[in-house]
Amino acid sequence: MRHLIDAKELLPEYVSELITSAEEIIRKPGQYAEKCKGRILATLFYEPSTRTRLSFESAMLGLGGSVIGFSTADSSSAAKGESVADTIRTVSCYADICAIRHPKEGSALVAAMNSGIPVINAGDGGHQHPTQTLTDLMTIHSIKKNLSGLSIGLCGDLKFGRTVHSLIHAMSMYQNNSFILVSPEELKIPDYIRQEMLKQNIRFEETEDLTRSITEMDVLYMTRVQRERFFNEEDYVRLKDTYILDRHKLALAKTDLAVMHPLPRVNEISVEVDDDPRTVYFEQARYGRFIRMALILDLLEQCEGGSLR
Ligand code: NCD
Repeated sequence: MRHLIDAKELLPEYVSELITSAEEIIRKPGQYAEKCKGRILATLFYEPSTRTRLSFESAMLGLGGSVIGFSTADSSSAAKGESVADTIRTVSCYADICAIRHPKEGSALVAAMNSGIPVINAGDGGHQHPTQTLTDLMTIHSIKKNLSGLSIGLCGDLKFGRTVHSLIHAMSMYQNNSFILVSPEELKIPDYIRQEMLKQNIRFEETEDLTRSITEMDVLYMTRVQRERFFNEEDYVRLKDTYILDRHKLALAKTDLAVMHPLPRVNEISVEVDDDPRTVYFEQARYGRFIRMALILDLLEQCEGGSLR
């Protein structure tokens, strides 16, 4: 059974198929309104979420399906000590597909290994977030008309930011992309990602200086400092406002820069730039629903033995 656990599974042909399907859904929503009638999506969220959970649920409802689930760990049997493996075995009896978000790295993989239904990783700790990456790729594709030959800046918490890790994996699979990794020393990308990039001869530089490097970027992916993954509050407070994208910094950038953010934003993007046509984070959130519709259709099709699209 196919699941979506890791951004490494997002091969360019697969991404392009999903984007095409999502674009078709945007064009003709009525044709998809009953495709998943009678099917149930379970959203198992052990961590807070607005966009990811609601876009999954809205996606399934838009396909005519239904949704069950929980949005906090303490409202599930996890609070009684149940393992992810046992929970997913149970959920497999009640739903046709599930999306899981959990604070522990690797939990989505454990779920997939014990599941009778397709599992989608909606974020596992500081590790991966492949459906955010699908959203990001669809956004970049719609704006740049291409997913290759881009200079991609990623700024903020590159250590704990799972959206960053997944986006680097996915964008590394396209020709001639290069990365500018902007973070304070303490929040640099994990070494396993750096080693993979070196091994694959991906062009990247690591810097602490956003003001200097913003001039070279085609895409700037801002991220929140991930407070919940810090070991102490003091470090968080010291690092949280290292980068704030404001009018002055944006004035230095290319006229066709795309400023993205997986959201939620805290302080790292000043609201004063929200009106700048280069900022696309709310458009990005909108794509999340359609690309997840395409993904749900694709993963459910394998269980149907036929095409739902
Ligand atoms: C991100 C996440 O949960 O990793 N949010 C999202 O899914 N859109 C980013 C974040 O929480 O900072």
